[in-house]
Amino acid sequence: MKGFENKFLWGVATSAAQVEGAAFEDGKGASIWDAFAAKPDNIRDGSTPAVACDTYHHYKEDIALAKEIDVNSFRFSFSWPRILPKGKGQVNEKGLDFYRRFIDELLKNDIVPNATIYHWDLPQELEEQGGWLNRDIVDWYGEYASILFREFGNAVPLWSTINEPIATYAGYGLGWFAPGRGCEKEGRAANHHVLLAHSEGVRRFRAENLAEANIGIVVDIWHHHPLRKDHKGDIAKAELENEKAYRSYLGPVFRGEYSAALLAYMEQNGCLPPIREGDLESIREPLDYFGLNCYNRVLDCCDKEPLEEHKRQNGGNYMDNGNEYYPKAVYDAIRILIDEYRIGIPVLITENGCPGVDETLKDGVVYDWHRVKYAQGFLEWIDKARKEGADVRGYYHWALLDNWEWNAGFSMRYGLIHTDFETGVRTLKQSARWYSKWIAEHDNG
Ligand code: GCO
Repeated sequence: MKGFENKFLWGVATSAAQVEGAAFEDGKGASIWDAFAAKPDNIRDGSTPAVACDTYHHYKEDIALAKEIDVNSFRFSFSWPRILPKGKGQVNEKGLDFYRRFIDELLKNDIVPNATIYHWDLPQELEEQGGWLNRDIVDWYGEYASILFREFGNAVPLWSTINEPIATYAGYGLGWFAPGRGCEKEGRAANHHVLLAHSEGVRRFRAENLAEANIGIVVDIWHHHPLRKDHKGDIAKAELENEKAYRSYLGPVFRGEYSAALLAYMEQNGCLPPIREGDLESIREPLDYFGLNCYNRVLDCCDKEPLEEHKRQNGGNYMDNGNEYYPKAVYDAIRILIDEYRIGIPVLITENGCPGVDETLKDGVVYDWHRVKYAQGFLEWIDKARKEGADVRGYYHWALLDNWEWNAGFSMRYGLIHTDFETGVRTLKQSARWYSKWIAEHDNG
């Protein structure tokens, strides 16, 4: 990873569909999340990403707030349909302009831009041509990525191809996320195409010969453990869930293979993806860094009727709704990368955070001590991993500000900054003040 040998990146994270708004302005095309949210019952509070935090119009304020927290890096994503309203073909100059202004503003404030190429908002026009099920998407994605590299490659030193490939599986395989399909075979096929697109993105990045820029992928690791340590059924379930989730990405990316266990599962369940000769080797493209999103672990129980203890510990990055507080999850995930996958590249913690369900302003203040406890716990475990030699180069808190949390709409607040979704007013929470102090005290860590 070039350029950050002596600088620990302290950041905040956002994504286009969750904060930008202006969903149909200045030529932007619809994304699958615009379409998904427009259908009844898909989003808990019936909201849509049409306005979100309106960062499209308030980006200077948001960057100024990030500066006030005193982070030195800002993770954001490009909206594919803002740049290519139909997903391919005609470029929307006004879309590019927005990101030019946005990136300039970051640079003016001495904040390192960390850009995600794809954070779930596929152009709806491409979905209508099969979306991630159509193998042509590898080229569609590649063309889109090349436009970004040519336009912003010299200004953005950190790139990631895909944020959490599992979200695509959740959309096609489970139907929970956009585009809301829900067929395991489709989910596995979409996953395979996402991985091919990822490596196509890396190759196109290399083709631009950008002297100062780095590229990686962002994967979330929610490691599954058996609820009852010695229970064979729980152990088997946890193993399979790990195969189906993060290992289904790390295997191809770092080893050029789907594991035997995953292949056996896919064969038995008739959901083998359409793998062509050479695909797996092509997915294994060398990367400059690995982006780890980490929120929690998951405890698995094989019983049909969940045990009382399991009900409270079934994963999820929440604390105040009774879920488990397990900050060691991040240490475990880093060890998996180093010990099992021997990744040999630096790690950035590209997301970590927790929502609050009742984060209202009281006399202009939000006392979100649960978030402070959560983040501090994770940061201490990251520190332990670093002290043991793990090459972790940065930490990005999810999120800069309360935003549109996908299926949960506005009902879950993840921000260090409170957003009033009626008025658009932003207010720093106690956690933001705590984070500034933490950064000042730890600096390069
Ligand atoms: C993710 C996404 C974010 C979410 C966050 C909270 O990693 O899941 O990148 O968009 O908002 O994780 O659920």
